[in-house]
Amino acid sequence: MSGEQKTFYLETFGCQMNAHDSEKVIGTLVQEGYRQVETVAEADLILYNTCSIRDKAEQKVFHRLADFKKLQAEGKKFGVLGCVAQQEGEKIFERAPHVSLVCGSASYRKLPQLLTQIESAETGSRKPEAGNPMRATGLDDRETDECFETEFTARTNPHRGYITIIEGCDKFCAYCVVPYTRGKERSRTSASVLAEARQMADLGYSEIQLLGQNVNSYRDPAGKKSFAELLAAVGEVPGIRRVRFTTSHPRDFGRDIIHAIDAVPALCDHVHLPVQSGSTRVLDAMQRLYTRDEYLERISWMKAAKRDIAITTDVIVGFPGETEAEFAATLSLLDDVGYDGVFSFKYSPRPNTPSLALDDAIPDAEKARRLDVLMARQREIQIARNKRYIGQRHEVMVEGKNTARNQWIGRTSQHKTLNFSAPDEINPRIGSYVNVKIIGSFPNSLLGQMVV
Ligand code: 5AD
Ligand code: SF4
Repeated sequence: MSGEQKTFYLETFGCQMNAHDSEKVIGTLVQEGYRQVETVAEADLILYNTCSIRDKAEQKVFHRLADFKKLQAEGKKFGVLGCVAQQEGEKIFERAPHVSLVCGSASYRKLPQLLTQIESAETGSRKPEAGNPMRATGLDDRETDECFETEFTARTNPHRGYITIIEGCDKFCAYCVVPYTRGKERSRTSASVLAEARQMADLGYSEIQLLGQNVNSYRDPAGKKSFAELLAAVGEVPGIRRVRFTTSHPRDFGRDIIHAIDAVPALCDHVHLPVQSGSTRVLDAMQRLYTRDEYLERISWMKAAKRDIAITTDVIVGFPGETEAEFAATLSLLDDVGYDGVFSFKYSPRPNTPSLALDDAIPDAEKARRLDVLMARQREIQIARNKRYIGQRHEVMVEGKNTARNQWIGRTSQHKTLNFSAPDEINPRIGSYVNVKIIGSFPNSLLGQMVV
């Protein structure tokens, strides 16, 4: 490059792990002398951080690549990062020959080196082919014991931020690509997580979300802290007012987590505990390693807590062989738990996964019907759950303003969106905490008035 600063554009798909990986990738690229730009048109390097959890998510990246293919003629380079990169590997070069870089999340530590490799390669008119020097791949590190740690994370929100505590997943649920795309489980030391939390507090962050595909599997490599102890320690960092964590696996979800929430005020009143199905037979076929009753036992621990813990979950409908009665068991589980929120998905067969070998006997229209029924049932549950807040006072972190409605947007410790009015002369600062009296409720949000 001719002395001018190189530019990059990065678009992120998928989960919070991906969102946070992108913050780390951005920091790394900036450190390497790149400047981030907001449009593809301005960029020398165009990166997609991709998701392959369901077929639709995976298709998105290939559509994006096809849309911008012609820009290759202008000398722009393309890179595919994340889960589709790891899953499809060098096949991406066949499907989208204008791509120069394919790198899975377990290899991000090597990004600076890979970037140098594609930059130093001559960009002749030669037809690209797999293995040629114009291309770089980071696909070999799924067995690594190392995490992608960087001091250059470019966090987008100045008030709340993520910290990865564990990467990868060893659970191998029958439907899931994650163990194949993100590699084996590896935890960061509690000392390094706490150092990052303290550094964030010093920078003015007050909310931290601890991230991992399965945070309860956290094992401190230095042997100092369990997950619950780490959670409590982050909650005790001066300046940190809220700590969240996601995602939990029921099999590894211990009672000590609930005890920590009861003991440490900064830990939020919210647990996301994906159940996937309410039928023990389906859970077994999914290789989830728990029964309906074992799951409900964990829910009973949360309900016995001193704090009013909001519970959310993920559900898959239409897993191969799921009968009408097994689907009904999932519906009855929604009633038994009384979830505050449910993310529900139609089963999507994924490459490499064990459930691919099962007959995907349930037609898409039937999966769609089950999803509709489930969402309608859950909507009723949320209407009832949210009503109980009316008359209560809750503290919210102010997240924004809806100027059209002259309402502020806040979030409670239980992760509920609470829209509220404030007296005209008061302008709560974004990122500050205020008390709000709840005067109305909807299926997905609450309505209130600021208490002054
Ligand atoms: N099909 C449908 N949903 C899936 N999920 C994971 N894999 C699949 C799949 N193959 C859902 C699970 C998980 C959430 C992140 O995505 O519910 O908890
Ligand atoms: Fe998507 Fe799963 Fe990868 Fe996250 S870990 S980006 S949800 S495939």
